[in-house]
Amino acid sequence: MARKPIIAGNWKMNNNKAAAKELIDGIMYGISKLDKENMPEVIVAPTYTALWQVWDLIKNEPKISLAAQNVNPNPSGAYTGEISLEMLEDFNVKYVIIGHSERRQMFFESDEFINQKAIAILKKGLIPIICCGETLEQREQGVTDKHLENQITKAFKGITTSDAEKCVIAYEPIWAIGTGKSCDAIEANRTIGEIRKVIAKLYSQDTADKIRILYGGSVKPSTIVEQMAQSEIDGGLIGGASLKADSFVELIKGAM
Ligand code: PGA
Repeated sequence: MARKPIIAGNWKMNNNKAAAKELIDGIMYGISKLDKENMPEVIVAPTYTALWQVWDLIKNEPKISLAAQNVNPNPSGAYTGEISLEMLEDFNVKYVIIGHSERRQMFFESDEFINQKAIAILKKGLIPIICCGETLEQREQGVTDKHLENQITKAFKGITTSDAEKCVIAYEPIWAIGTGKSCDAIEANRTIGEIRKVIAKLYSQDTADKIRILYGGSVKPSTIVEQMAQSEIDGGLIGGASLKADSFVELIKGAM
């Protein structure tokens, strides 16, 4: 069965209430003109403070799913500043981005913590978007594939085959995030193929064939068509270019 493509917008720490409304209204208007049958799955990941409003605005639009940018794996308790899965469930959140390099690097999140989050998310019936990616230094040292194998193996520890198949992976080379310097599509395809081999090794070829793997890192309307033409790339996780309705709708079109 063909894997359903995904175009996911990671809004990061952008958009207050008014800006979130403007953006989602623009996206809804843009997609109202598209052929819904051929559309990729569209995901938006607003900040926690905009989740309620965005959920309310998209609740009658089955083509758009909601993602959170993070979650704490504990059910409740003394975790100041954190948000639980139960809270996300209130807004019909379907996906949670975990392991983003910004959280790994700036907030020191470990592979073990990311694995705990993946397990908790799946247990609640939500889907993790598990990010992985190498630094420029690692790429130059030729250890990219090894590093990704390590990140993926640790993220999937203890996850059953039936849960693993539901997961989404996002390959995001750190040197390509927010730099305007997207990874060459052929190389991104090769690397994602290597990630798929890791899944095949951990589970089976069948699981590897089912799991959706996105590319992220300076995806733009000008790069998406070539990226989507690659056999291993199942969509994009997009930061900067997801913050304007016009360019996000162009990305959706580029995946059709
Ligand atoms: P970018 O961000 O598209 O702005 O490079 C991608 C991401 O961090 O998910």
